Amino acid sequence: MAETAVDLTVPPLADLHRRRSEKWALHDGDVLSLTVAEMDFPIAAPIREALFATIERNDLGYALPGAPALAEALVGFADRRLGWAVDPEQVTVVPDVMVGLIELCRAIAAPGHAVAFASPGYPPFFVEFQAAGFRVVTVDLDSQGKIDLEALDSVLARRVAAFVLSNPHNPTGHVATREELARLAERCAAAETWVLADEIHAPLVFPGAEHIPWLEVSDAAREYGVALTSASKAFNLAALKTAFIVTAAERSREMVKRLPAQHDHASLLGTIAAEVAFTAGDTWLEAVVGQLQLNRTQLAADLAAHLPQVDWIPPQATYLAWVNCTPLGLGDEPASAFLAHGRVALGRGLDYGQAGAGYVRLNFATSPTHLRDAVRRMARTVER
Ligand SMILES: Cc1ncc(COP(=O)(O)O)c(C=O)c1O
Repeated sequence: MAETAVDLTVPPLADLHRRRSEKWALHDGDVLSLTVAEMDFPIAAPIREALFATIERNDLGYALPGAPALAEALVGFADRRLGWAVDPEQVTVVPDVMVGLIELCRAIAAPGHAVAFASPGYPPFFVEFQAAGFRVVTVDLDSQGKIDLEALDSVLARRVAAFVLSNPHNPTGHVATREELARLAERCAAAETWVLADEIHAPLVFPGAEHIPWLEVSDAAREYGVALTSASKAFNLAALKTAFIVTAAERSREMVKRLPAQHDHASLLGTIAAEVAFTAGDTWLEAVVGQLQLNRTQLAADLAAHLPQVDWIPPQATYLAWVNCTPLGLGDEPASAFLAHGRVALGRGLDYGQAGAGYVRLNFATSPTHLRDAVRRMARTVER
């Protein structure tokens, strides 16, 4: 199905507030929300049509387990867009990336064992691994967003069952180089620590950076690692619950086989949408990445003009800006002041770990108009 013009029109604030997703439902009608990692753009037309057609057929039953067309769609997408040779026999469907990560940790580790990841890090890593009974250990990132190798070594020396790698990284938008990944693979293999590579943001890399899929890094990466991905972030389909675990070695394949039988309960809507995204979504995705680049440039200019004191590294991927607001004097949790006084909701830095004190995470996947308004609201908070 060929796609023609791509419509990325974002509705006015009042219409966004009619959405029932957490990003909008959590806030009063006057609040501009740039919180949860979902985009304000309309979804790709082929996906919309496929979902409408599914409803028209009253086709809301169970998904066919192990649907081969879906794995083949992922194989094609990974090859075309990610430089990643995926073996369809080593693709396992899971409801979402977080469920995949937690079930993998349960297959690898016993309660009380350590699960590590970089800090700052995606907030559910802090909450959900702990809730699942694991000991959470963090590794600092350096000022460029790279994993601090000394910190990694001292953590791995204390026996870590799994290292959860977010690459491209949420919240910094850093894309790890081949060298960074190879060093991580080497060290984790030497320590017999599994690497669970969460690559959900990989299709959203901007020109100038290159995403290296974990399973393309080295034999050590393949032996001691699995990758997790989904159409949900790049195509804005988080509601639909479909994600993938991918392996590329016998050892990891055997480990994934230990997952409980019910792990592959993805939704039929999600599997249909993912298949269409992977086979007919390229034009839309390219338009979105182009718009996000424009937004990133505009954000840089607006922050420089209205909040020149803040400190940030424009992300190499994702639509998330990790902004150090410490110089604004709004305390450890500046998001509270921005919400109370500017009526703009931003990710709360401390939810991303202690390294997030003084930071906000700003989601710029919206219209240039809303984005400009957001910076004005932030500036208003400071000027008051
Ligand atoms: C790094 C990272 N991993 C996982 C997720 C969640 O993915 P899922 O909805 O498939 O669990 C997100 C969502 O923003 C994310 O940023």
